[in-house]
Amino acid sequence: MNKASDFVDEKRLWRRHVEMARFGATPRGGVNRQALSREDIDARALLLNWSNALGLRGAMDDIGNMFLRHPGTDPSAAPVLSGSHLDSQPTGGRFDGVYGVLAALEAVQAVKEAGIETRRSLEIVNWTNEEGSRFEQGCMGSQVWADPRKLEKMLALTDSQGVMVADALREVRQSLPKLEPRPLTFPVHALIEAHIEQGPVLEMTGTTIGIVTAMHGSRRFSIEVEGEEAHAGTMPAAARKDALFAAIDIVNALRKLFHDPRDVVRFTVGRFEVSPNALAVVPGRVLFTIDFRHPEERVLTELGDQVEAICGQWAAPCDVTVKETRRAACKTFEGFVPEAIARAAIDLNIPHMPIHSGAGHDARYVLDRYPAGMIFVPCEKGISHKENENATPSDLAAGARVLADALVALSS
Ligand code: HGY
Ligand code: MN
Ligand code: MN
Repeated sequence: MNKASDFVDEKRLWRRHVEMARFGATPRGGVNRQALSREDIDARALLLNWSNALGLRGAMDDIGNMFLRHPGTDPSAAPVLSGSHLDSQPTGGRFDGVYGVLAALEAVQAVKEAGIETRRSLEIVNWTNEEGSRFEQGCMGSQVWADPRKLEKMLALTDSQGVMVADALREVRQSLPKLEPRPLTFPVHALIEAHIEQGPVLEMTGTTIGIVTAMHGSRRFSIEVEGEEAHAGTMPAAARKDALFAAIDIVNALRKLFHDPRDVVRFTVGRFEVSPNALAVVPGRVLFTIDFRHPEERVLTELGDQVEAICGQWAAPCDVTVKETRRAACKTFEGFVPEAIARAAIDLNIPHMPIHSGAGHDARYVLDRYPAGMIFVPCEKGISHKENENATPSDLAAGARVLADALVALSS
């Protein structure tokens, strides 16, 4: 019997990455493809073109997740899913998310070209708004898919221009060919998400495939410091309520809280907005975000629970409002899905290793409901969320080969 991996085409996979990277291309060779934007719609349309050419049936659910189905012999059997996301960070790279969608497309095409009939259908999935950049709730599509109670809240979220998710989704539906409606949380046998590692371990150890065994948990907060605008030339310091100075004191206190000599804690102040951000005006308001990650739930609780009190201690004479915007639990990937990935890599004699994921991925929410696993491939110097994110055609193809054979094993 043919092996699907024998039909994975490295050039075709690379060429599709080049074509996808056109949408939202930035002058420095990266992409800015914000969720549900024109660029995202173009990327979704191209994915549909490729999948229609393969005879796959396209469906979309209420939060805009796309499912492209290659039917198995038993339509009543729960399908095996594989995919990731097409949206990017504002200064994103050409592989984060895209690779998982295109590797799934390549794997399904290889299964078809190998003439392999699987009992379970194979479905390629494109999750809406994984990055949480335009609409500030990352893994939006997979969160809602796994817990439909979140749908209304997510549909009402707005971007910095006040555009609601619901309105942006309507434009997506109008711009794409009609897709079958799909319920949320439908039965799934297993999911595999392929992704670049976004870290240096695979490249440093010369390993081609990472089999994810754990995903670090995260807690995200938005912190608003409210002071008073005043004239920079006349208002005495003693009478000022300078939101910027208070925010700086808060950030420095949080840096002390999250300082970790073992360098396991990941603490980031990613967004920092000063208003009115004018040269001769004392800042009246500062809004900033913190993103805190760790492999142990206990530490996430212990350190994360101190954030609000520390903000309160250092805010005077301004007021501060702390909102936890998202907490994602630490996850363990074990059982028959990672085992199928390992078996495929062994059979293909491709170097592989167990690996942790410091980055969050949609697979974490699928795992709340059904068995899931992740395949990592190396990226240059571990760089990601940066325009010069890079990977090699052969590593991408190796991941697609392992994926193809693992999907066949899981769906037969
Ligand atoms: O932030 C993350 O971990 C994901 O890459 N968006
Ligand atoms: Mn990603
Ligand atoms: Mn990302």
